Amino acid sequence: MNRRNFVAATAAAATAAGTETTLAAQGGTPVRDKPLGGDHWGPLHYDAAEKAQVDEVVDTGVPFRFTGRRGVAPVKVSTYEREFAAKIGARFALALSSGTAALECAISALQIGPGDEVIMPAWTWHSDCTAVVRAGALPVFAEIDESFNLDPSDIEARITPQTKAIIAVHLQGNPADLNPIMAIARKHKLRVIEDCSQAVGASYKGRRLGSMGDIGTYSHQESKTITSGEGGTLVSSDPELFERAVRFHDVGNIFAPHKEMLGEVRLAPFVGTNYRMSEFAGGVMLAQLRKLDMIIGAVRANSAPVYGSLREIPGLRFRLRPDPSGDLASPVFIRFDTKAQRERFLELMKAENVPAGGPGGSVILPVQPYIENKITVHAAWPTWTTPRGKAIRYGAASCPRTIDILSRFAGVAVGPKYSAQDTRDIVAAVRKAFPAALRA
Ligand SMILES: Cc1ncc(COP(=O)(O)O)c(C=O)c1O
Repeated sequence: MNRRNFVAATAAAATAAGTETTLAAQGGTPVRDKPLGGDHWGPLHYDAAEKAQVDEVVDTGVPFRFTGRRGVAPVKVSTYEREFAAKIGARFALALSSGTAALECAISALQIGPGDEVIMPAWTWHSDCTAVVRAGALPVFAEIDESFNLDPSDIEARITPQTKAIIAVHLQGNPADLNPIMAIARKHKLRVIEDCSQAVGASYKGRRLGSMGDIGTYSHQESKTITSGEGGTLVSSDPELFERAVRFHDVGNIFAPHKEMLGEVRLAPFVGTNYRMSEFAGGVMLAQLRKLDMIIGAVRANSAPVYGSLREIPGLRFRLRPDPSGDLASPVFIRFDTKAQRERFLELMKAENVPAGGPGGSVILPVQPYIENKITVHAAWPTWTTPRGKAIRYGAASCPRTIDILSRFAGVAVGPKYSAQDTRDIVAAVRKAFPAALRA
């Protein structure tokens, strides 16, 4: 089918389905009166359970996880850690003050430092890079593929004798293709950190994200699956890596809850920092964790009919999903051949009051001025003062495919509390806007 026939066929299909085809942008009736928009998933589910946890901490006056008072022992953060590890399928979990803290603990646990290199996707959140740079090691960026995650076929070319680890980031709910990534890591004896910050609770081939690499990290900042406003968690099944992460997060110390988890202590104190979680955050995270599968189930239930209906639109393709059943299933991303088509689609969807957006929540790291220009707080910082650090080139020329892919996708969020009408409106708006956008 040529392009003109194809566009005509899609318009005919929409008419046959009984849907209004005059675009709101061209005077037609918008699909909705008011813009569709959800809220962050975790806070939407705050209720008496979170309140009771916070009240208990206030009533007992025990806000610090390692010290009790008047015969009351702190239990919230430790209970959360045990339940989180069990949920993910890892031996140990460490609660932290943020996802960034979790990444810094992971890098420290793996003893990554000056002279070492870490491969990560060119598109992810700043923290993957900052954790590596703050350890004095060198970030090396690989291209993403149309899953928006690390392209396994671009990893090996980036490996040097100094490469120590790969950070496989699972972005916007969608698992990275871990089987080939793990195979490359094993072949080259590299460690793998799974950064699951944007995919807390998602899975890959039946296993929860974070349980397959050497270390998994999670963020519980407001926009993530479950939240205490700020917070993070690290998991590992390796006792030595876990002990090093625990000691790093608490100025070299290890206390009773983690000693009990580990059974024995293997390491001497070393220089660390303070990334502890409070009992307030621990209580809220405990209440949220117990709702995790319910929240994910609600999103998937709402997004299934959207995927099902959009799949029938001729020519429509989604982003790559290495394991659709493990994906958090929102946002639903649609592929275009050109940036102009994507931009037109965004305009048309906005007019229908069903807003769509380009891939968000991350940045193209190699084009960030502080990375491209290698700016650190101290001029002698070891990351970019070595011959290799001086020689490596970042910038747009280092990640053309990443830039291209991100310019051609549009996503529509599906929330856990969307109604059946909301999801039908998404489908109706895409049915109108997608064929029209192809003409851009
Ligand atoms: C992929 C990724 N990694 C790490 C982080 C850092 O998490 P936090 O904001 O909790 O420090 C984020 C936060 O947005 C993220 O999206």
